[in-house]
Amino acid sequence: MGTSSSARRNRFPLILLATVAMGLGVYLFTLFFAARLSEGPHTSFLKIPAVALWALLAYFTVRLVNAALFDFAFRIRRGYEAPTLVRNIFTLVIFTVLFVLIFKWFYSEINLGALFTTSAIFGVIIGLALQDTLGNFFSGISLQADRPFQIGDVIVVSQQKHTGVVEGITWRAIKIRTFQNHIVLVSNSNAAKEAIEVAPRDNLNARLIFFSTVYTDSPAKTIHVVREAVRDADNVSEKITPIVRIRNLGESSIEWEIKYWLEDYAKYNDTDALVRQRTWYALRRNGLTFAFPTRTLHLERKVTARPTTAEDEIADRLSAVDVFAPLSTDELRQLAMATVGHVFAPGETLIRAGDEGSSMFVVHNGRVQVQLTESGKSRPVAVLSEGNFFGEMALFTGEPRTASVVALEETEVLEIGHAAMKHLFETNPSLVESISWTIAERRAGLAASAEQATPNSLAESAGLLTSIKRFFGLR
Ligand code: CMP
Repeated sequence: MGTSSSARRNRFPLILLATVAMGLGVYLFTLFFAARLSEGPHTSFLKIPAVALWALLAYFTVRLVNAALFDFAFRIRRGYEAPTLVRNIFTLVIFTVLFVLIFKWFYSEINLGALFTTSAIFGVIIGLALQDTLGNFFSGISLQADRPFQIGDVIVVSQQKHTGVVEGITWRAIKIRTFQNHIVLVSNSNAAKEAIEVAPRDNLNARLIFFSTVYTDSPAKTIHVVREAVRDADNVSEKITPIVRIRNLGESSIEWEIKYWLEDYAKYNDTDALVRQRTWYALRRNGLTFAFPTRTLHLERKVTARPTTAEDEIADRLSAVDVFAPLSTDELRQLAMATVGHVFAPGETLIRAGDEGSSMFVVHNGRVQVQLTESGKSRPVAVLSEGNFFGEMALFTGEPRTASVVALEETEVLEIGHAAMKHLFETNPSLVESISWTIAERRAGLAASAEQATPNSLAESAGLLTSIKRFFGLR
């Protein structure tokens, strides 16, 4: 675009020179032949070069005005180039008017209007010949008036067949430069009938990129890793953070889409490729795996499923839980075997206040928040992390869950059921005592949060001890 407008500016002195030369020609011609033009038998013969000279003068004058008006005035005032179609219509109309005036001046006896209107055959021929041209012309005018896109925008015409940057709209066609650097001309009348997808140059346009990961990879981790890898890639807009989301749980993979916004949409092929490349490296670095079509055959076994952790690791974790400190290594291993692992995504609710509960949980990885819900709003009471436990209140007292527990990040918990605890209580009577202390303290915490009277922890704990023993049928 820059080259064509500077080329036009370079032509300006030439047009100016031609106009001056034609003016001079007309002047000299009239000077020499003025007397002969008004009298004598050769008058009509001389009129032909006179008309031609005037017509040329008119032509160059119109071009001069056109250049001055559109190349300079329009650009300076509007900041962008005048559409070719508008320029052409302007030139055509002014030139026709001038030519008719010149013709009438020299041949006042000939009726131009009658000449055109009486010739019906001429009209039919012109009409038929110009059918397509006129269609394009009027579609071009409506495109200019409507301005659905501008020079520099990326458009897709004819159901994805032609994609490229708009280079110009003439009276006949829209000129698109494709991403293979070819020029495609879509006639205006065709374009008027098609659905055209426009990605305006001054708009934040988005793209979607797809990839798949295996089911064993954590979604929360994948989202974090891919988003961070993509957001600082070249030409990815900083104004909106890319979105990484699951689009489908496929047969053999989790199917993902990345939505990102571009600074310059015309470079989307390169940027798509860069985003894919960044994704590959990011997955590789973080031990995440691209999926390929696989089919896994599972043989059912009657063993409690624990998909994510090994027994020793769990026994280690349980030994770090303060209330389980008195347990022997064997007891810890037995307890580890009785636990069931669960993974929760950030924001997922692990326990809902008011529900029935018959198990407690130890946080293996991650963090959870204990929340009280008051008049529809949740209020945080405590944050529990690795080695902390929760859910013991309902398990040991048989009452409904006192609070909700929500994952703050991807969290893995170990669930311990009623039967496993009963077995432990029978062999470790001191365990009941330490747990009843924790429950008493937590009740006090809840009461303080709910702005109720704080119960006496000591008395509370003693009462609890009795009711836990009764609940578990212990002596
Ligand atoms: P439960 O009542 O079974 O379910 C909600 C759990 O949140 C509860 O058991 C406790 O384990 C836990 N909880 C309640 N209050 C507190 C608190 N103040 N501090 C820590 N944990 C709590």
